Order: sequence, then C-alpha cells, then structure tokens
Amino acid sequence: MTIPTDVRSMEAAARELISPVAYAYYSAGSYAEWSVVENVTAWSRWYVRPRMGVNVQSIDTSTTILGTPISMPVFTAPCGFNRLAHDDGEFGVARACAAVGTVQVLSTATGLDPKTVADASDAAKWFQLYADNDAAVTDERVARAADAGFEAVVITVDTPTLGVRYQGLADVVEFLNELERKEVTNPVLTFCDRLDWTELERIAANTTLPVVLKGILHPEDARRAPDHGASAVIVSNHGGRQMDGSVPPALALPDVVDAADGRIEVYVDGGVRTGVDVLRALALGARACLIGRPYLWALAIAGEDGVRELLERFKAELANAMALSGQTDAKAIDPSIVVSASKY
Ligand SMILES: Cc1cc2nc3c(=O)[nH]c(=O)nc-3n(C[C@H](O)[C@H](O)[C@H](O)COP(=O)(O)O)c2cc1C
Repeated sequence: MTIPTDVRSMEAAARELISPVAYAYYSAGSYAEWSVVENVTAWSRWYVRPRMGVNVQSIDTSTTILGTPISMPVFTAPCGFNRLAHDDGEFGVARACAAVGTVQVLSTATGLDPKTVADASDAAKWFQLYADNDAAVTDERVARAADAGFEAVVITVDTPTLGVRYQGLADVVEFLNELERKEVTNPVLTFCDRLDWTELERIAANTTLPVVLKGILHPEDARRAPDHGASAVIVSNHGGRQMDGSVPPALALPDVVDAADGRIEVYVDGGVRTGVDVLRALALGARACLIGRPYLWALAIAGEDGVRELLERFKAELANAMALSGQTDAKAIDPSIVVSASKY
C-alpha cells in the first residue's frame, strides 16, 4: 500500500509533498468554502438499507458510459494542472485509468495538446471544454480534441466566470510562477460568460462527438439538456469552487435523475470518497461517479502508481459495498436500498 486508506489522510500526506500554492489551488473552494465540506458530508445523509438473503458470490462492477465499457462506475473528473502534484501529471492519470479500465476526462485548463495525452494510452478518453467567448477558439478546441481521438466533449457550464476564491488562485502571479516552475507552458484560464442554450446547441451541432453538460444542479436544466444536443449531464458544483452554498450534488441528484427521465445519462461528482458513496449514487440513479481531489492527492503521493492504487481501491470498495447490501450488478442497483436520513 503506497497511499493512505482514507482521503483525509491522503490530503494531509500530499500537502507535505507539494508547494503551498499548489495545495491551495487543489484544496480551495470559493467564498467561505462551505460547499467543499458539505459535498462530502451530504453523502452520509443517505442511509443504506442493505438487502439480505442474496447470493453475492459473483459481483459485476462494470458498466458503460455513453456506450464505452468501463470496469467500474468511477472515472476521473477534469482537474487543471495535474503536474503541480507530480511530474507524471495528466500522462500518469491517463495510464492509471487505462490500467484500471476507466475513462479520464482531460481538462482544457491544462493547456496540453490533447493529442499528447491521447497518445499516452489506448484507453477511451473524454475532453472537458471550457468554451471561450470567441466561438472560433471554442470550435478549435473541440476540433483538436476530436482529431486527437477523444470520444466525448464535456462542456463545463457552471463557470461563466471564476467563483470568488480567497485561496488558490488568489495570488495569480505566484500561481503562474509555480506553473512555470513545473514546466506548464500554455495554461488556459479563459471562460465564456455568454454560454447560453443557443451557444451550447451550436457547439453540439458542430461536432460529431457526444456532448455532456457538467455542472448541472437544477432539474429544469437537466430537462432542457437533451433538447439542446446533450447526451448526458454531470450533477456537480465544481467541487465547491464556483457557487458556494449550492445544493450538494449528493442531494441534487434525485431531482435531476427524475427530470432526465431516462432520456440522457446522469453522472455525479463532488465529495465522492468511498465505494459506499458510489453505491449510494448508483442507487439514487446516477450511471457513474467522477472523482476529483482524491486522485490529485494520490498523484502527489505516488504518481501514476498512486492513482492506479486509488482507482483499484474504489473498485474493491464498491464490490464489497455491493456484496454487503445484496447487490450483484452495478448496472442494476436497487433504488430502495438508499433512504434519506431525515426519515429516521
Ligand atoms: C484542482 C481542481 C481543478 C479543477 N479543474 C477543473 C477544470 O479544469 N474543469 C472542470 O470542469 N472542473 C474542474 N474541477 C472540478 C472537478 O472536475 C470536479 O467537479 C470536482 O473536483 C469534484 O469534486 P471532488 O474534488 O470533491 O471529487 C477542478 C477541481 C479541482 C479540485
């Protein structure tokens, strides 16, 4: 075992290994940072009611996301600047995901040529798009990702502008210096504050790749998404880095699943820390979960190997949680095994 067994200890260990400015950037939330904490604790507001009397000798954690097979319903969320954690950076994450059989979502913010990351492994990868106010820049980003072989475009819709952050990006000069020290030469830090449904539809119509909207919390937005070219949504509040005090994804999820009404796939991220959280999310109707900070901490501690170990742990924990709750197929988790704590 090269990484600690719980994410809080992983964070503490990683903190010792990376620069203060990198730690601040990774750990930061916006405003008073309530959502960073609540995202994690909100999962515990769903209690598991395990089923008994089930033969659980054979457990299948595999599933598909937009038709792509993955070995477990967990994949890596787009996070900027992985090289601040470890020299393996995005390339190490790509190889770790490939080894475990899951999908990496590569952030626009890295500034890396998507082709170089695509070439790091044979596994399917998705590209996260920060749109730009200049449509030509947006289109060029999508086209490069498509040419590089990325299989979906994840458009982040919760970042028309950066949330107020008193940590992390507060000292932009020091942050840019740190990027330079880590040889991150082409950081992308532009956003699109005119990203309305018309523009989203235009981006979707311009590419043959399926489009996923990341940062959905309101059920009405989930209802609209498929009418504007989206094939899936990610319930997310950007890890508490944008609208602080927004409803935790763990609690927003059921209404979004209802509104999606089976027309599009629904994924969730924010505070997913164990296989039990993944089980909860699946029971609440998510097709899969994404993890952010946990893999950054694992990367900081042990590079590619650390991320692989973390992903393998998620898979083992999910299999264990499924066995303990009488579930054998990750694609068909019984919704009745999860119940709101407020009922008790
Ligand atoms: C350091 C860091 C950088 C991030 N960069 C991006 C990004 O470039 N694009 C994006 O859509 N989301 C970004 N996110 C949000 C993640 O994709 C994800 O929504 C969030 O981290 C999930 O919450 P968790 O960290 O609690 O797992 C970032 C998050 C962190 C922690």
